[in-house]
Amino acid sequence: MKAEEVKKLDEKYVIHTYKRIPLVLVKGKGTRVWDSEGKEYLDFVAGIAVNGLGHCHPRVVKAIQEQVAQLIHISNLYYIEPQVKLAKLLAEISFGDKSFFCNSGAEAVEAAIKLSRKYGKGERYEIICMEGSFHGRTLATLTATGQEKYRKGYAPLAPGFKIVPFDDLEKAKEAISSRTVAIMLESIQGEGGINVARDDYLKGIRRLCDKNDLLLILDEIQCGMGRTGKLFSYEHYE
Ligand SMILES: Cc1ncc(COP(=O)(O)O)c(C=O)c1O
Repeated sequence: MKAEEVKKLDEKYVIHTYKRIPLVLVKGKGTRVWDSEGKEYLDFVAGIAVNGLGHCHPRVVKAIQEQVAQLIHISNLYYIEPQVKLAKLLAEISFGDKSFFCNSGAEAVEAAIKLSRKYGKGERYEIICMEGSFHGRTLATLTATGQEKYRKGYAPLAPGFKIVPFDDLEKAKEAISSRTVAIMLESIQGEGGINVARDDYLKGIRRLCDKNDLLLILDEIQCGMGRTGKLFSYEHYE
């Protein structure tokens, strides 16, 4: 299909939640992608910061091909060996004991929000979030996102979120009330403009959470999985 035809069909049939760059990409390898005209590009976007292993690494391709040839999808109603192996590996290489598997970053953050509310037992539900953050596009996660442009047009937003300046320990402390159950942040804000949390700030937030029985939610959707040189970004602060 010619590029112009792809764009025309997109215009007619795809809901435009994203403004597109006028490129029709057809293949990728490692750090490179190619458009429909055969032009090569160095891919600095990396699938919006998630293709940590590049495009089409042969071992990744082989693993995906083998799995879909064996069993496509069986829901969470059944046990499967690869899932428990991955959960075990994650427990061994992170601070966490157990994993919740889901399909997107927004879902992961949404789950953390729900988990916090369960922890608060209906008495504490407020989550302190940061200016400049990004946590996703579901109703709760865009409410937690400290950037007005993502929330515009979706009122009434979900209750129970307080936004404070990033990297300011005093402001986070002041925002804690008898309703607060968690603090949520990215150790390096991605969409907010690559803002790196100071060492003493993140350690201070950890202490604040311990002192006030608050959960600390670290959103590593963008800064995790090896992208900062360690597997998880929080490891830089240990
Ligand atoms: C820090 C952060 N949290 C959450 C999300 C949402 O992830 P997803 O687009 O997979 O829902 C993103 C996406 O860019 C992100 O950067």
